[in-house]
Amino acid sequence: MELLDSSDESLKKAGKALAEGKLVAIPTETVYGLGADAFNTEAVARVFEAKARPAFDPLIVHIASLADIARVASDFPPKARLLAEALWPGPLTLILPKRGEVPDIVTSGLPSVAVRFPVHPVARRIIECSGTVIAAPSANPFGYISPTTARHVAETLGDRVDFIVDGGPCAVGVESTVLDMTGRTPSLLRPGGMPLERIREIVGEVAVPRAHGGTGAADGEAIASPGQLKSHYAPRARLYLCDYRALPGAMAGFPGRAKGGGNGMAALVLDGARAEILKATGLFDAVFALSPAGDMREAASRLFAAMHELDARGFAAIYAERVPEEGLGRAINDRLQRASFK
Ligand code: TXA
Ligand code: MG
Repeated sequence: MELLDSSDESLKKAGKALAEGKLVAIPTETVYGLGADAFNTEAVARVFEAKARPAFDPLIVHIASLADIARVASDFPPKARLLAEALWPGPLTLILPKRGEVPDIVTSGLPSVAVRFPVHPVARRIIECSGTVIAAPSANPFGYISPTTARHVAETLGDRVDFIVDGGPCAVGVESTVLDMTGRTPSLLRPGGMPLERIREIVGEVAVPRAHGGTGAADGEAIASPGQLKSHYAPRARLYLCDYRALPGAMAGFPGRAKGGGNGMAALVLDGARAEILKATGLFDAVFALSPAGDMREAASRLFAAMHELDARGFAAIYAERVPEEGLGRAINDRLQRASFK
């Protein structure tokens, strides 16, 4: 593996490597992606292999201009067009009917393709320089926490990729919002970096499955997003998700605690004030605030880095606060919820 900086010379080198069928980890505004030429089936197969990702879980194709859509999608419905014009480039993935030319390995045989136009200048430049479009899942081993720094990628996939481009920490920090645009009403498949409220401002109604707090179809009845497994994004430590006020109670019920404490009980809360209160109880070995001022954007951007850090410090259990279910809070709760399943 070779680590590249984000000088234009390096980005050209990364683009060329992708065009030659190499695997390149790329910074985006959401998380780092593990990229391969979407039209090179062998390279895409190596992405699945590197992540130990099951073949039924399709990849997102990353583009660097609106004109690239025609290379992968057979149709660009009016509502999808409205969203693209308003919110792209940005942390939003649209599921569109796919063109026959897109290899089945990218879409896991589905008739649709996931398309995303990232806003991160490094990602855009690399895609541009590759001259193709880039299939890229998050650059983490399957089921593990998504990477928001080049170091996260190097530590977990370093020996399985050809290049890692360091573009600094990801500003958004949670994956893109995924919307299925193949039906009459747009449907939310994954809450993410683009708030649902913003999407509704542009297209009105969006179906939200019950799994994401909506009144729509239950998981399984909804048009499947095969990657939405219950257990995902998981740290090695046991993670418990509950209301802030219930955190001490949940912790007190943990069997390991009775054996003398100090065995690694961490709390993860939204803001600094709450962190101080929990610290003062003396119940936890460590208390972390995602954002000192309680800013949801900052919290989202630091979520995965905090989970990596907690994992590295070997806590036995992490007690995490459920944050308000609005804006980026939906994505934060979704990732914490998945991290809590074992
Ligand atoms: O922010 C992101 O989206 C990051 C960066 C790298 O762009 N990528 C990412 O990829 O999170 P990944 O592979 O970790 O998640 C892609 C999600 C999965 O849940 C997958 O099942 C879903 O998108 N997906 C992909 N193609 C689909 C399709 N045709 N229909 C339904 N869901 C699809
Ligand atoms: Mg992922």
